[in-house]
Amino acid sequence: MDLEEIRDFLVQLARTAGEMIREKTGKVTWDDKMNSVDLVTETDAAVERMVKEQLASKYPDFKFMGEETAHGVLTADPTFIVDPIDGTTNFIHRFPSSCISLGFAVDKVPVVGVVYNPLLDHMYQGVQGKGAYFNGQKLPLKPPSELSLGTALIAIEWGSERSGPNYTCKTQTFANLAASDGGMVHGFRSMGSAALNLCSVAAGTLDAYWEGGCWAWDVCAGWAILAETGGAVVHGNPGTDKAAVDSRVYLAVRAGSNQQKFIADFKSHIKGSLSY
Ligand code: IPD
Repeated sequence: MDLEEIRDFLVQLARTAGEMIREKTGKVTWDDKMNSVDLVTETDAAVERMVKEQLASKYPDFKFMGEETAHGVLTADPTFIVDPIDGTTNFIHRFPSSCISLGFAVDKVPVVGVVYNPLLDHMYQGVQGKGAYFNGQKLPLKPPSELSLGTALIAIEWGSERSGPNYTCKTQTFANLAASDGGMVHGFRSMGSAALNLCSVAAGTLDAYWEGGCWAWDVCAGWAILAETGGAVVHGNPGTDKAAVDSRVYLAVRAGSNQQKFIADFKSHIKGSLSY
């Protein structure tokens, strides 16, 4: 299987999808999914249709999983894992942090990732064993320095579940990571796209990203990119180490010395655990 050829095809597809997304950004109406903060637009569906058709005609033997039309259970078969618009809320608001996220997994391991933010013309891509790049520049964008919680800039997301035990765990953990008698991290960023959060961790411009509740299509492509930079994705709950692409609770950490200690420190500040 030629992963670089697959990457090249996904880059082309991302640019075509990018035109569709750019044209409609900030001009769409939306429907609610689970609730009034879990949103979908006709463009999400149209982009996924186009991507699914193109992939089926070029790679008829590979499986497809996508946010809008094909959930299913991830198997070991070669599978494209696609979010047509990650950061749909940003897309609706015209906040320039949404992207198409095109991942490819084999044996459930993300091996190719293409993430494209069309408003900013930011193209991230990575191929297992071949490195990861941002607009042609090798990632990470800065030399990997020592990791420590007290100097960390961390992506968090509030998610669409705004009550109950998961919400309590997230908000109490955010407070504990921020507090002067807790982690006292440098700061949080909440940019509304799991894929772009992972790409920023790959770039080294964010130190970590913690989230529960997102799906394989939100993380597969970004994970493939991050893995190529020496970054790690582990399970986001204390007491569980290994994350699977579909485990829905993740802690992503950039390349750098003290990675394992950073992960342990971070987890010691989590209040409870997340369950999806
Ligand atoms: C969402 C975004 C958001 C994350 C949610 C995802 P969508 O994806 O990635 O940052 O917090 O968990 O569902 O709905 O915009 O494709």
